Amino acid sequence: MSLPTLRHPSLVLRGVRMRDAKDMEKALSQHRAWLEPWEATTPLIRLAPADTKASIRGLLKAAKDGTGLPLVMISERQLVGQLNVSQITYGSLSSANLGYWVTESAAGQGFTTLAVAMATDYLFFEKGLHRMEVCIRPENTASLRVVAKLGFRYEGLRRRYIHINGKWADHFCFALVQEEVRGGIVKRFEEGRVPGGLAAIPELDWVKARNPLA
Ligand SMILES: CC(C)(COP(=O)(O)OP(=O)(O)OC[C@H]1O[C@@H](n2cnc3c(N)ncnc32)[C@H](O)[C@@H]1OP(=O)(O)O)[C@@H](O)C(=O)NCCC(=O)NCCS
Repeated sequence: MSLPTLRHPSLVLRGVRMRDAKDMEKALSQHRAWLEPWEATTPLIRLAPADTKASIRGLLKAAKDGTGLPLVMISERQLVGQLNVSQITYGSLSSANLGYWVTESAAGQGFTTLAVAMATDYLFFEKGLHRMEVCIRPENTASLRVVAKLGFRYEGLRRRYIHINGKWADHFCFALVQEEVRGGIVKRFEEGRVPGGLAAIPELDWVKARNPLA
């Protein structure tokens, strides 16, 4: 998939480039304590300093293969975060997963919420995907707000689903399908028409998430 540039007056989302490595390394190292608790890791591999160039190479390969869409968030010409669409499948599933981060200094300005809406609109209405999924650790209050603000629908608790910061972690999963947002997600959000309550998590799932599986 060729990497698009998506523009909004307050944010540009563009494809990641090898030459972003320096800015990404700077952001990742300056905001280590902020990002580390939420970082996906690989089981059986000891945590090592991230190799940003290798990670960008992997993302670009996934983009070339059509299974990923790695984007960076740019505000006022500065790289403020990353939004990565992975596991893109077409055909009878036509679905993908979203992950994201912003630097601590850029947090709270709505960048991620807007970026998720922009990227999902692009994949639904220009690339024909049908479903977008976001999975979030129960402890990640800020990220839970992102999906709630956009009207993602809660789909359930997946136990010990993704390896995060060195261990398997439970996740709450949320999704949107194209027919829920026919006029576009950015438009619906900006016009204040997002239905409330769709991302609400049933008390039973909170109770389960507070109790270890084994
Ligand atoms: C989760 C995250 C991407 C949200 O990005 P963002 O651009 O700040 O998103 P928004 O501006 O829309 O804010 C979302 C929520 O973050 C919280 N928030 C706002 N300012 C904040 C700040 N300075 N510090 C921490 N959290 C803040 C609020 O709960 C906000 O919800 P609200 O708008 O209803 O008040 C960001 O907090 C982050 O990068 N965290 C570390 C990495 C991470 O958790 N990635 C996601 C893994 S699923």
